[in-house]
Amino acid sequence: KITLAITYSGSPKGVNFTGIPLLLGWMNYGSGVFVASEPAGSAGWYPVNDHPLDKATYSFHITVPEPFVVAANGLLEETTDNGDTTTYVWEMRQPMASYLTTVNIDDFVLRTDEGPGGLLIRNYFPTTIADKAEIDFARTGDMIAFFEEAFGPYPFEAYGVVVADQGFPFALETQSLTLFARDWITGDGSIEEAVAHELSHQWFGNSVSLSKWEDIWLNEGFATYSSWLWAEHDQGSDALNQMVDQMVEYVSGSPDYFIAPGNPPANDLFNGGVYVRGGLTLHALRLTVGDETFFEIMSTYYDRYQFSNATTDDFIALSEEISGQDLGDLFDSWLYGEKLPALPE
Ligand code: ARG
Ligand code: ZN
Repeated sequence: KITLAITYSGSPKGVNFTGIPLLLGWMNYGSGVFVASEPAGSAGWYPVNDHPLDKATYSFHITVPEPFVVAANGLLEETTDNGDTTTYVWEMRQPMASYLTTVNIDDFVLRTDEGPGGLLIRNYFPTTIADKAEIDFARTGDMIAFFEEAFGPYPFEAYGVVVADQGFPFALETQSLTLFARDWITGDGSIEEAVAHELSHQWFGNSVSLSKWEDIWLNEGFATYSSWLWAEHDQGSDALNQMVDQMVEYVSGSPDYFIAPGNPPANDLFNGGVYVRGGLTLHALRLTVGDETFFEIMSTYYDRYQFSNATTDDFIALSEEISGQDLGDLFDSWLYGEKLPALPE
């Protein structure tokens, strides 16, 4: 083993990725900065082996002019007033895939809350929409408690969101500090599904990371199903069944849009099938093995691969190990079959 200290300088810039119409990585919108890199934008602002298998801990030392505030991954350890600039030191002490790093700079308001066991929740909002945003994220602590019960302990030292004062058509589960765009904010709590989806990625995607992008359903299918589980927990099993029926209808009605979630094309990683048919794949597993075994599979998978990486084959092998059933055909048809399989009774 060798240790490399790399000194570099330059102007951060966005990175093109086939199939994603926007630049990835460091985005300077004039009055501020946000960073959204999935899957390959981080190399535009720091030298890195930009692959999720190469996780690392991070410290960020970021100096900004007054009146800017910096929100990055992990815990804010220090702020130093240097006169007309301020230096922020942020630490992520758990392993993090490079695409999950984020730095956000704006004149944010900080709103804090407390999750289960006193977990720090810190949210960074644009001043003009802070009160509305606070309503949209008010149930974060309850959601963390629910996912902890279902999957296992929340993996990081704090959670929260940062809302960029910009419009873009996605949210990103940047580690311990999910990034949302300002146009998500409603002030009426109606974005709950997305709030739960991004939060659940902290377990599935961030702590348990994929080993290759072909397995992206391990992130998006799991987060989609997790948001349905939250709806089931919060509104009852009819709510889940209605969602599942509706999703089956969507998927079977637009098979060209909702393609099989396994091995998506490299230029269409985040297609609808990865999300919705990926989520339905977990529901099919649950109906096949029963609730108790299903939740044992989810929590054992999380426990075994936390702070690490897994593959679809690891998940299938573990599901077979825990259920004692041969699940090869089930996963084959749900993940790779062209036609949407029928859900088990
Ligand atoms: N992981 C994000 C989500 O939870 C999707 C990000 C898609 N990436 C992008 N650059 N548009 O939905
Ligand atoms: Zn997602």
